[in-house]
Amino acid sequence: MTAETDAIAVVRRSLALCRAGKDRPHTADGDANSQELINQEWKPVDPDGESMDLGILLTMTGPRIEFFDEQVLNAIAGGITQVVICGAGFDDRALRFRTPGLRFFDLDLPEVSAEKARRLRSGGADTSRLTLVPIDFRTDDVAAALDVAGHDASQPTLFLAEHLFVFLTKRDVIALLAGLHRRAAAGSRLAATLESHAAGLDSDTVIAEFNREFFGDIVAMPSIYSRSTFLTLFVDAGWAVEAPDVVRGVPHTDVIDTEFVSAIA
Ligand SMILES: C[S@@+](CC[C@H](N)C(=O)[O-])C[C@H]1O[C@@H](n2cnc3c(N)ncnc32)[C@H](O)[C@@H]1O
Repeated sequence: MTAETDAIAVVRRSLALCRAGKDRPHTADGDANSQELINQEWKPVDPDGESMDLGILLTMTGPRIEFFDEQVLNAIAGGITQVVICGAGFDDRALRFRTPGLRFFDLDLPEVSAEKARRLRSGGADTSRLTLVPIDFRTDDVAAALDVAGHDASQPTLFLAEHLFVFLTKRDVIALLAGLHRRAAAGSRLAATLESHAAGLDSDTVIAEFNREFFGDIVAMPSIYSRSTFLTLFVDAGWAVEAPDVVRGVPHTDVIDTEFVSAIA
């Protein structure tokens, strides 16, 4: 493990901890304690093993958790049969929103998928409706990986990408958006977070300052752009952004917002 992968592992685990113990919805067939089942013995600790306060992260992630839970529930109500979660990390929605006829595909790096599989197994989870898809969005074609995993491109899909784009380069975000669109039958939707800064600021400067201030330059968070730059990436890949003039999200820092965006194929 490098310092970077350690730091990202802490972010990934902290997000899973933020989702646990919350009063969240679940489906009739879903598990109310699915996030606790995955988290098991985890405690909030930093890369040095020191106890960590989740306070600010809990406040920041609250509306985001609601947004993505709502996206899944709305899609289920609309009769969708496939949910693809990109950069799923330890997202519990495949268990929480288990529904007859609905298949989940959780996509993440091979080592993360393997760790999730271990946790699901040791927690005795019912994974009958879940396929874990090991993938690296920097090198692998998401459309091909979904095909191999059994995703049906002729049926509508809900695609989620929560707190993922910020870790990818612009080139990789473009490839991912295009690859997902290739698998998106009519009626498919995409819900994602993006880290945005005010129009007029220089993205490279914002990114460099953020990486220095929050990660001591250990982690490169390469994709923080203005809202309009981000939305252009969606549109260029074929996605129609819903209500593009309505900004929904939470402040991340003084300069950066986490925005919630939904789009249709
Ligand atoms: C901050 S975590 C968010 C996890 C999850 N969406 C959540 O909200 O709990 C970002 C996730 O994206 C994954 N990720 C980052 N870069 C990736 C890549 N190149 N290929 C696949 N997954 C990647 C990480 O492994 C991590 O699980």
